[in-house]
Amino acid sequence: AESDAMADRCQALIEERGWGFWAVELKASGAFIGFVGLHTPSATLPFSPCVEIGWRLAADYWGQGLASEAAWAALKTGFGTLDLSEILSFTAIENRRSRALMERLGMRETEEFEHPGVPVGHPLRRHCLYRLDRERFAAQLAAAE
Ligand SMILES: CC(C)(COP(=O)(O)OP(=O)(O)OC[C@H]1O[C@@H](n2cnc3c(N)ncnc32)[C@H](O)[C@@H]1OP(=O)(O)O)[C@@H](O)C(=O)NCCC(=O)NCCS
Repeated sequence: AESDAMADRCQALIEERGWGFWAVELKASGAFIGFVGLHTPSATLPFSPCVEIGWRLAADYWGQGLASEAAWAALKTGFGTLDLSEILSFTAIENRRSRALMERLGMRETEEFEHPGVPVGHPLRRHCLYRLDRERFAAQLAAAE
């Protein structure tokens, strides 16, 4: 039920703005494996307002570059179609896979902060922030193509 409610919120935001956390499907089978996309965080954070890139794939699909492929497409939309100047990403300090993905995308870690949505004293409260600006993304795109 919680998962369905979240999917409904993602769908509503996409209908309202035209972009958001998109469903990710395997090209070969069309199987739904998670979401990747762009979002305006609902919490007020030290660097608000901002647009973040975020992701969550079913664990069976980790380790194959699928999140990277989808994230790259989302960044192209963010910097291209939406003409954003900067896209951020943040995660709990201990989230090694998410941080590795941010680094693969060329994002740079700039600061740490306490996430106000996580209770004080909780091990996931300490977060790290990564940033990517349009110029750096364009340079990476040129190098990749
Ligand atoms: C964060 C998350 C999306 C990362 O997924 P992932 O599969 O590790 O990320 P990628 O798609 O970049 O895949 C990288 C792995 O695939 C491998 N890979 C294979 N082909 C690849 C390719 N063409 N390109 C990139 N990586 C490739 C890499 O070597 C790497 O392997 P490793 O895990 O053994 O180091 C996933 O762990 C997840 O959904 N976590 C739970 C949700 C979560 O924590 N979200 C963030 C909350 S803030």
